[in-house]
Amino acid sequence: MKIYHASIVYSKNKDELQEFEKAYIVVENDRVEGIYETLPSEYEDAEIIDFKNYVIIPAFSDLHVHAPQYPQRGLAMDKLLSDWLNDYTFPLEAKYKDINYAKDVYNAFTKDLIKHGTMHAAVFSTIHNPASDILVECLEKEHIQSFVGKVNMDINSPNYLKEDTKESIKNTELFVKKHINNKYAKPILTPRFAPTCSFELLEELGHIAKKYNVGMQTHIVESIWERDEAKKCYDGCKCDMEIYEKAGLLNNEPIIAAHFIFPSSRDIKILKEHNGFAIHCPDATTNVIAGIMKTGSLLDKDVKIAIGSDIAAGQYLGIYHQISSAVRLSKIKAFYEKKERSISFTEAFYMATKEAGKIFDYVGTFEKGYYFDALVIGDLEDDFHKLKASEIVERFCYSGEVTNIKHRFLRGKEI
Ligand code: GUN
Ligand code: FE
Repeated sequence: MKIYHASIVYSKNKDELQEFEKAYIVVENDRVEGIYETLPSEYEDAEIIDFKNYVIIPAFSDLHVHAPQYPQRGLAMDKLLSDWLNDYTFPLEAKYKDINYAKDVYNAFTKDLIKHGTMHAAVFSTIHNPASDILVECLEKEHIQSFVGKVNMDINSPNYLKEDTKESIKNTELFVKKHINNKYAKPILTPRFAPTCSFELLEELGHIAKKYNVGMQTHIVESIWERDEAKKCYDGCKCDMEIYEKAGLLNNEPIIAAHFIFPSSRDIKILKEHNGFAIHCPDATTNVIAGIMKTGSLLDKDVKIAIGSDIAAGQYLGIYHQISSAVRLSKIKAFYEKKERSISFTEAFYMATKEAGKIFDYVGTFEKGYYFDALVIGDLEDDFHKLKASEIVERFCYSGEVTNIKHRFLRGKEI
């Protein structure tokens, strides 16, 4: 058992933060036993670790990140989606046929993810099985609860990054079978997006989803170009989500729909019917998509929204920066579109912790029984001005650095 003495902040629900100024959090083995303002007498003899004026928050979940694009973060931002993919991103992803390159990148990516306070993630790999296996092994070794996908792309892709349909299906099943019983890093089906996947491929993936009970992650209505391209490829489908529904790909959880910027009411209906998550990647959408999610109105329609870094369309691995970005972009959206509303910091923090945590086991909050996956943040106050614990968290998300993360805990152990 361990007892930590510090301020503590976590999401109670979408509209409320639970905030304790200088309290005690009792951790038994890997899970939270309770939070106390005065320590119960039964714990009086236990060792207490005092984190002074630091704040303990839940570790973050990144529900949309491309590990192979890690070397490209903060680079190659001068084009929009289609050109960005063809000119920069696809050539980079082709490098992962070299497993030594994959080993170097995926080891560094995993370490940096943890360094930035992300301990649960939904991750895209590339089309290559050996490299995708390496990515899974890196995350599994570090005990990162994650969903990892070998990417599928069999049409409209450059020859150097295109799969034969049958090979793609066979290799996906091999990948799923190999990792289905992993403890932490589990497989998820990952058709890249509708424009690069044939319907035959998606239908076969639907069979794999059913046979192994695995979910799906993809990009959904991320740009006007992508939305229209998808409709062209799938004559007869009225919207992006319908393509995946028809292919039988929405019946197994989790369903992770990255971006969801231009959804029709039908896209929204289908996502909700299948208990899917829309993933907001604020910086990525401004960098390469030039679109902004309707975060406020989607929340008001009870759409579940989580947050993604979307490296390398997004430049920051730290989800804390995406939390503030989500608030900032919602104001621009509300200013230009009268039906929209801005979102609060509390809502954005909830999306990146408690809401996102729902696709994993017992993470994202400090209620009793949840894993103690936590960050201790600090050195964000001025000597001349005391901040409330929640203000320290807000400042961290707006202008904090990775050096403001003072300690990291995964399943109760400091790492
Ligand atoms: N759509 C298809 N592939 C990608 C990708 O790698 N990144 C982003 N942001 N959108 C995509
Ligand atoms: Fe993406």
